[in-house]
Amino acid sequence: METLRSIAECRQWRLDNNQATVVLVPTMGALHAGHLALIRKAQEEGDAVMVSIFVNPIQFDDPSDFDDYPLTLDEDLITCAQAGVAAVFVPQREEIYPNGYCTFTEVVGPLTDKLCGGARPGHFRGVATVVLKLLNIIQPQVAVFGEKDLQQVLIIQRMVADLHLPVRLSVGPTVREADGLPLSSRNARLSQESRAKAAALPRGLDKANAAFRDGQSLSMSLVELVYEELLVHPGVEVDYADVVRLADFSEASTAQAGDLLAVAAFVDGVRLIDHILLGGPGLSPSKEG
Ligand code: PAJ
Repeated sequence: METLRSIAECRQWRLDNNQATVVLVPTMGALHAGHLALIRKAQEEGDAVMVSIFVNPIQFDDPSDFDDYPLTLDEDLITCAQAGVAAVFVPQREEIYPNGYCTFTEVVGPLTDKLCGGARPGHFRGVATVVLKLLNIIQPQVAVFGEKDLQQVLIIQRMVADLHLPVRLSVGPTVREADGLPLSSRNARLSQESRAKAAALPRGLDKANAAFRDGQSLSMSLVELVYEELLVHPGVEVDYADVVRLADFSEASTAQAGDLLAVAAFVDGVRLIDHILLGGPGLSPSKEG
C-alpha cells in the first residue's frame, strides 16, 4: 500500500494506475467498521481503492469539535493496509487550503438549508468544497459514501450532477452497533454512561416509525416521540428532529411513507446524528422488519 502525502504524489499514483478503475473512499480518519464496509464495497466497484484521510477544517462550524476530533493515523494506515487498500492519500492542510485560498463550492436551497445544514452553518459548503477538490485531484471513476450521512450523500449527488463531474457515486448502508447506534468516529468520545444514552437516538426513531406504521401521520407527533425518548436522559440535548420529503427536503407536516425523519442530538456534549425512512425497516436489530 502506498501512502501519498502530497498532491503531486497523488497525481503520479493516478498516472501509474491509469489502466485501473480507481475507487475513492473519502474519510476524516479514525476508521471504524462503517468505513471498512465502504472500503469493501469500493473493492467490488473497481480494482484500485484509494482512501483519503483528511480532517477538513472548513466543514467544522464548532472549533472545539475540530480540536477534539479523534486522530488515529498510524492505526488507520494499518487498517487500510490489512483491508487491501491500494493507496491512502493524507493531504496536508497547507496544500489543500494555501494562504489566500478563497474559492468554495456551495449547493444552495432546502437540501443545504434544512436539518444539519440549518444547524451547522457552512458545514456542507465545507464538505462540498473538499469533496470537489478530492475528486479533481484523484479523478476516480467511482466514489463511495455512507448512507449514514444521507444529507451529505444527497448534496454530493446534486453537486456531481450540476457540475457534470465524470464520477459515479456509490452509497453503502449504515453499519450499526448491536443496540442500533450508528458507528461514528465521534462515538470514541462517549463515556460508557454517555454511550448508553446515545442508543436513545435509534430507539426514538424506531418508536416514531412504529407509530407511523400504526397510522400516526402527524409529523409533530412523530417528532415528539423522538424527543420523549431522548430527553429522559440528563445531558442529552436535541439539536433538531424533523420530517422532510426525501426528494427535495420540503416540509412534511403530514408524513408519508418514504419521508425522512432525521435527528441530531448532543449527548454529554458529543453531537450525534441518525435518521430513518418512515415505513421502512427498523434500525435496532431487535426491531428489524
Ligand atoms: P467521515 O465521517 O470520516 O465518514 C467517511 C465516510 O464514511 C462517509 O461517507 C460516511 O457517511 C461513512 N460512514 C461513517 N459512519 C458510517 C457507518 N456507521 N456506516 C457506514 N458508513 C459510514 O463524512 C465525512 O467523513 C466527511 O464529511 C468527508 C465526506 C470525508 C468530507 O470531509
